[in-house]
Parts: sequence; C-alpha cells; structure tokens
Amino acid sequence: MDTLVVDHPLAAARLTTMRDARTDSATFRAALAELTVMLVYEATRTLPVDKYQIHTPVARTTGYRLANPPLLVPVLRAGLGMANAALGLLPEAAMGFVGLARDEKTFEPRAYMESLPADLTGRPVFLLDPMVATGGSIEHAVRLLTTRGASEITVICALSAPEALAALAEAKLPIRIVTASVDERLNDSKYIVPGLGDAGDRQFGAV
Ligand code: URA
Repeated sequence: MDTLVVDHPLAAARLTTMRDARTDSATFRAALAELTVMLVYEATRTLPVDKYQIHTPVARTTGYRLANPPLLVPVLRAGLGMANAALGLLPEAAMGFVGLARDEKTFEPRAYMESLPADLTGRPVFLLDPMVATGGSIEHAVRLLTTRGASEITVICALSAPEALAALAEAKLPIRIVTASVDERLNDSKYIVPGLGDAGDRQFGAV
C-alpha cells in the first residue's frame, strides 16, 4: 500500500488552523476545503490523460484532459466537507456516497447508507474522509467499493494514524493513501493524537 504524505507549507498551515481548538466551525470548514484542494491536486498528479487537438487564437496545439475521471465518494458525515472542494477541481467527476457511523462502545463502523454505482469495474475512486484513525471505517467503505468491482481506490484524508496505516496495509486492500499528516497515535477513545478532535463536530457542531 502506497502512502503519500503531502508535505507542503500551505497544507501545514491549513492543518494547523484545523487542529487549533479555538477555530470556529466556519473557519474549520474553509481550512478543510482548502486542504482538500491540495490533497486532490496531489492525488491526481499521476492520473492518465488523453491528448486532443485544439486551436488557440494563434495556432493549433495539443490539449489534455483526464482519461478516466475518478468517482468521488465522501464518507458521511465528516467527508461532506471535502466533497465540494474535490468536485471543484474535478468538475467532470461523478459522486457517490457512503454513510458510516462509529459505534462508540465497540468502535466498529456501521453503514447506514450507500449510494454507489452498481459496477465500478475500471473506474478509479477517490474516497474522501478527513480522519483515518483505526482504519475500520475505511476498510468497511473500501469493501463496499471492491464488491462492486473497484480495484483502484485512493483514500484522501487530512489526518491519519499509524495504527490505521498498519491495519490497512495488513488488510492488503487495493488502495493508496494521500494524507497531510501521519500523527503520533490513537488515545483510548480512538481519537487521533494530537489530531483535531471530532472532524464532524468541528465542521457542523456537536449533535
Ligand atoms: N474521527 C474523528 O473525527 N477524529 C478522530 O480523532 C478519530 C476519528
């Protein structure tokens, strides 16, 4: 499993805003959206392109477009804050949705909704979730995708924990991870340390 850590001063600055407990929800959402643009930019760097001919006002030249735009799949609820930013960079992309909740006692993921194309054979997928903590939710979501034939899945997250990366590597899933940081560890409540708290609550307020 490949892991790309996007090490960039602007990404670090947005992440700092998100980590700071004093940051209000509106500022947190804006920082997450801007960070998502940077992560998606890096995640798309290696995607194949088609060439085609265009005319500038001056001459004929070669143009480029993505050969096979990825399906974007935000994991609800926290991934919602990444969806529009990713779509901004990839306006031609389609979007599916997976709703996962974490059982706060067992920490196991529970699917409460899935809205995905029936056949994902040959379609790259970008799974959007700001926090990859234990890897359990991502593994669950990835299995929903591979069941439909997906074999090229990029997990895009703001923060990840070493425990999740180890578990996902062990699971031998067809994924690569693009993240702005691999943090120190998980605490006893399975929150990422130093982390940023609950990414859903930070964006939308506690429910
Ligand atoms: N989900 C979050 O929102 N935060 C964490 O630290 C871990 C999982």
